[in-house]
This record gives sequence, C-alpha cells and structure tokens, in this order.
Amino acid sequence: MASKIGVVGSNMVDLITYIDRMPGPGETLEAPVFEIGCGGKGANQAVAAALLGARVMMVTRVGDDVFADNTVANLGRYGIDTRHVRKVPGRSSGVAPIFVDPSGENSILIVKGANADLLPAAVDEAAADLAACRLILMQMEVPVETVYHTIDWAAQRGIETLLNPAPAAADLQLERIRHVTFLVPNESELALLSGMPTGSREEIVAAARFLVRQGIRVVIVTLGRRGACLVTADTAVEIAPVAVAARDTTGAGDAFIGAFAHFYVKTQDVLASLRQAAVYAAHSITRAGTQKAYANAQEFASFRQTHAPDLPVV
Ligand code: RIB
Repeated sequence: MASKIGVVGSNMVDLITYIDRMPGPGETLEAPVFEIGCGGKGANQAVAAALLGARVMMVTRVGDDVFADNTVANLGRYGIDTRHVRKVPGRSSGVAPIFVDPSGENSILIVKGANADLLPAAVDEAAADLAACRLILMQMEVPVETVYHTIDWAAQRGIETLLNPAPAAADLQLERIRHVTFLVPNESELALLSGMPTGSREEIVAAARFLVRQGIRVVIVTLGRRGACLVTADTAVEIAPVAVAARDTTGAGDAFIGAFAHFYVKTQDVLASLRQAAVYAAHSITRAGTQKAYANAQEFASFRQTHAPDLPVV
C-alpha cells in the first residue's frame, strides 16, 4: 500500500475571472469568462498527490456557508481522507478571487475565512493519523503558529515535512522552521526569508545555502517558466522546465509540490521526483482552472511520454 501524505493546510473556493486586461482605478470592464472551482494551496497539493495515486489525509477547516459541504465532498471524490476536516460555526469558507490574463498569468486575492481557525490543537487532535504519514505538507494560508507546531511535532517523531512558504509572510520566523525537511519557496519568498538578494542564479543558490546552514535539509526554489533549483549542503542542481503554451498558470506551484510529494514518498529520490514534478506542473498550465486542471496518473503518463520521453516511468 502507498505511504501516506498528510496535508495540514488550507482550502479555498476559487472564483476565477478570465480577463483581457486588469481594470484601472475607477474603471469597469467586461470580462469574457468566469468559473468557480475548488482551490487553496493545501487542497490543491493534496489533490495533485491523490490524483497520481498517493494516499492523502487532510487537516483543514471550512466555514458554515454554502461552500463547505461541496469542499468536503470534492476532497472525498479524490479519495482524500477528510476525517479531520471540520466546519467552523460563524465563519465563511476561504475564498480566492483570481484574475487570469490572456498569457495565462494570474493575480490572486485570498480571504482565509475558516482557514484562520486551523489552530495547533487541530494537529494534536489528528495526531494518531498524522503519525502514520511519511511526509506532511504545509503552506502559509493558515495561522503561522500551526505551521510551527506541526514542524516541531513531526520533527520530534522523525516524520519528514515540507513547507511551501506561500503566500509570502513577513512574520514567518526562520528560527522556528529550521527543522523542516523540505522548504519550497519561490524567488521572492526566498528573498524575504533569507534577507538576501535573489536576482541571479548565484544569488539564489547563496540565499538557499544560507537557509540550509540554519538547519533546513533541502531547499527547492521554484522559478516559474525557468524551472526549479534544488539546493542542499553540497549540491545545487537545476530542474529544467518543460516548454508548453500556458493557458492558466494558477496552481502550477501546488501541482509541482503535490506531484513531488507523491513521487518522493514512493521512491525516496529527491532529484528524480523533482523532474517528474516539473513535467506534472507543466501539464497543469495547459488547462484552465486549479484542481480541475490537474492530470490523473494516466493523463500524466501520456503527457510525460510526449513531453519528456527520457524520464523513467515511476
Ligand atoms: O496556488 C494557487 C491557489 O492560491 C489558488 O487555488 C487559490 O485558492 C490560492 O490559495
């Protein structure tokens, strides 16, 4: 049976408007298309891993509004264990108004809603099930104290963790996350956390190495259309991007992390898993939406065959 992945993180309802251009201040513009879908960085990562065949459990919070039941049912449809998803009375669910331009680039607002009520006690409540996980994923759309608590809790039990420090949070303290196994920032999140410039490849490696020296075992810097960079104490390796025509880049970083988690718990091979994840993320931007853009295992296998035929089948 596949090893289990835990996600202590967010879910959102994505309200996606496809626009010709952003309106200016005071301007009203008509946009051609609107879609509603399930999103949130935590749920997206959970769904990507589950679609590829991982066993996934999620610890998250929904509101007591019209979105809540649909969010729980959606996670269930992907086979994700939702026993630790709870409704928060008097709260809205998390929502994310998203704007996607004709090049596929996105701008996102988030309203945390019930995600703000995912407190450290939720981790303690789910402890018996989280203890069976091989890897626990976190992001920054829930309270920072919950992230710290999860990292400490997992480190004490020898369970590996991955933190995606997104969206960038100025109050995230490096000292409190140094026991995380994998840190997956983009360039601006890396700059914020390290206090160092990240404008060139050399600067990115130096900033990531600084984080490794603080105790983080592996730093994986996501670079959008330029791929990613894996930095450990003794290596710095580029993960090449896969060229595709972008339709909608929303959630590509989450697709990358969910796929990495799946392949890593399966193989224990970080570099090979990152190469698979880069292909999975490339596929996700060829389709519109977030979770609904993600490939299942069969779709991914056929995309990999045409776009990265040299990659081994895992
Ligand atoms: O990373 C993409 C996600 O960010 C969206 O699904 C949105 O919900 C926000 O959380």
